[in-house]
Amino acid sequence: MKVLIIDKVPKAKEIFNELNYEVNYQPGMDIKEVSQVAKDYDAMIVRSTKIHDVELGGNLKAIGRAGAGVNNIPVEKCVENGIVVFNAPGANANAVKELVICSLILASRGVVQGIEWTKSVGDNFVEAVEKNKGQFKGSEIRRKKLAVIGLGAIGMLVANAASALRMEVIGYDPYITVENAWKLSRNVKKSDELKALVAEADYITLHVPYNEKTEGILNKELFEIMKPGVKIMNFARGELVDLTALKEAINKGVVERYITDFPNEEIRGNDKVTIVPHLGASTHEAEENCAVMVSEQVNNFLKKGTIVNSVNYPGTFLEENGGKTRLGIFNKNVPGTISKISEILGESKLNIHGMINKSRGDWAYNIVDIDGSVSDAVIDKLNIVNGIINVRNIEK
Ligand code: 3PG
Repeated sequence: MKVLIIDKVPKAKEIFNELNYEVNYQPGMDIKEVSQVAKDYDAMIVRSTKIHDVELGGNLKAIGRAGAGVNNIPVEKCVENGIVVFNAPGANANAVKELVICSLILASRGVVQGIEWTKSVGDNFVEAVEKNKGQFKGSEIRRKKLAVIGLGAIGMLVANAASALRMEVIGYDPYITVENAWKLSRNVKKSDELKALVAEADYITLHVPYNEKTEGILNKELFEIMKPGVKIMNFARGELVDLTALKEAINKGVVERYITDFPNEEIRGNDKVTIVPHLGASTHEAEENCAVMVSEQVNNFLKKGTIVNSVNYPGTFLEENGGKTRLGIFNKNVPGTISKISEILGESKLNIHGMINKSRGDWAYNIVDIDGSVSDAVIDKLNIVNGIINVRNIEK
């Protein structure tokens, strides 16, 4: 099987090489070239390179995002083509958490500005520094109110760490998982009201994914009710903040500092903005964790049909318990598909040994273990069933 890796994910290259895949490791590959060749590969591994315009189809069955955010991938187009998109939730969460905690402090004292300034101090260096350091004085984060918007893998860790630093942490997440709720420190308070939370916070940190519902989640309406002097951290995605409204709030003296991991010309050079060059997940540990997690998921899918941590198809696992052939069948989540599958297999005298069907919204996925070999003619018959998008014969 063949894997194309178009970003710097050396650990993925190592793993797929060990698994005897044919690996094409091309970090920085021209996107037009990616588009021409993607169809020849079974899977593609990416980081943040935008692949919205890449032609899908052909042999391509899986895309692995060695990280969390998938806004660089045409997830909907993939689901329609039966291409499973995997990510690595939580694999870089600690790295992001550490940078957010660092930023809370950077937002509170003129550390960066002070370091820059010391470079320009001339004669009497030591004395001059001591005499003028007052301009970089700040405040402590202890006992200040921190609003954590989004309590997924990263938000939950940030909330707990800030709480351990004695901040008064209030979390907001209408979709929090039971697992994350269990992991939250009991000192973290819960809010159901974003507006009320934002209005009372000294610090706000964003940890929600970017999609059409969260775009501009920090908007004019919210900036207008924020406490003067509020400090905002954005290590989730740039698009979560309405930058025009942010600049207005900065000019009015409402936002004291905006620290973001996402460069944007609109805020470049603004005194109250600190731009970090998207370093949230850039640690040796996080890069390795992401690569291992996503490579294993993609390999298990290609070899066994198992889906874990996909963002467009349901998690699906069927224990290997005999059966000669395994089929992976992607279909629209409409009634009658399973009966049609078993009818075609029955007509072809093929016995179903084991089967699982899972759905997610409008789409579904089946793993079917069959006692005999399945001919191409049977696969063709299945492929033309109304609603079936794609049938994979996973060799055992
Ligand atoms: C993520 O979504 O996982 C982070 O933003 C990191 O992105 P990166 O892999 O491009 O550094």
